[in-house]
Amino acid sequence: MKLCTIVGARPQFIKAAALSRVLRYAHEEICIHTGQHYDRNMSAIFFDELRIPQPDYNLGIAGGSHGKMTGQMLAAIEDVLVREAPDMALVYGDTNSTLAGALAAVKLHIPVCHVEAGVRMGTLISPEEVNRLLTDRVAALLCCCTQRAVKNLRREGITRGVRNTGDLMLDAALYYEGRLRPPAQGELLDFSGRPVALPQGGYYMLTCHREENTSDEALYEVMQAMQRLDAPAIYPVHPRNRERVMRLWRLGGFDHTLLTQPVGYLTSLYLVKHAKKVITDSGGLQREAFFYGVPCVTILDNPVWPETLSGNMNRLCAPKADAILRALSAAANKRTGGAPFGDGHAAEAITALITAYEEELCSL
Ligand code: UD1
Ligand code: UDP
Repeated sequence: MKLCTIVGARPQFIKAAALSRVLRYAHEEICIHTGQHYDRNMSAIFFDELRIPQPDYNLGIAGGSHGKMTGQMLAAIEDVLVREAPDMALVYGDTNSTLAGALAAVKLHIPVCHVEAGVRMGTLISPEEVNRLLTDRVAALLCCCTQRAVKNLRREGITRGVRNTGDLMLDAALYYEGRLRPPAQGELLDFSGRPVALPQGGYYMLTCHREENTSDEALYEVMQAMQRLDAPAIYPVHPRNRERVMRLWRLGGFDHTLLTQPVGYLTSLYLVKHAKKVITDSGGLQREAFFYGVPCVTILDNPVWPETLSGNMNRLCAPKADAILRALSAAANKRTGGAPFGDGHAAEAITALITAYEEELCSL
């Protein structure tokens, strides 16, 4: 089959790397990068470090409102799909690039394969939930990371083309684990380009970028909580928050939060694996902490990955300093409930599903 992968945001490059490695043995793949993430540390670094083939197209669409960004992507992706006429479009997760790719493809009658289907938060307040719901509704193949996601889809009446394939993030975390090294000189940099040293006595890992958590109040509370911890927190700041976080930090009193530029995937995984605990609102980081047995606190009201809440591995909390500290003392490496994210071979399972779909089409 000729497959067209559509990506645009940091976590999608990582998932695409894990799948492409296997997929390209069986199928032809071309890649569209919408341009949603574009800073070197948010995009090119992943293609270089993970040795992903360069995108065939970069549409250069980023920023602006949700509607504007998604609409511009929809039009530009459609042009490429018409030109390339792939047999299937592959989209990942829940970003605006995901929804634009799925809509462009389905309107051209190109079947859509949605990787990371069936994730539900339960509120349309989150822009990601809108993207997930609509993408699942039009997908022909729905690759779920967990059994719970399969059940979520069943509850909505979606059963055709659904498979629990396991989570590509686990594939990636296992595959690259052997390459993890402490950050080299120059890999952890603050926003003036000065090196940041890993604290000798251990550190916490913090990331925070969800629209819901990026008000001055929320960020102030998060950094207040870090100030009261027994070790500093390394905080690679997403560009969405850069100005806000820097402004707060300059007010003083936050010397326990070590701000850095976004880091590459291997550095990020290393930081998670060796952290005392992780504090985050990232879907990816919560799961990575879970994979490596690092206790985690997720600053969100609704669970996106309830599988990680087994035992004491992950605690949810509001963006309030006291709540974060309470959740941190409750979070511990005590896991129950087996291996919800599969066995690290999601790429093989997704490839097999796509191949079976092709064979079924050929036999019609
Ligand atoms: C997006 C996804 C979110 C995902 C996250 C991964 C949507 C709705 N959200 O959120 O699900 O968790 O990516 O990181 O698609 N910016 C830069 N440089 C960059 C990228 C972004 O400066 O390389 C700035 C831009 O000003 C942009 C803002 O960050 O307006 C937000 O970026 P955007 O892609 O809209 O959303 P994310 O917060 O990255
Ligand atoms: N990550 C990274 N560099 C960073 C922060 C995160 O490589 O500075 C990795 C992280 O290890 C995980 C993925 O990016 O694999 C998660 O992406 P993000 O938090 O942006 O998005 P989400 O998973 O919330 O959609």
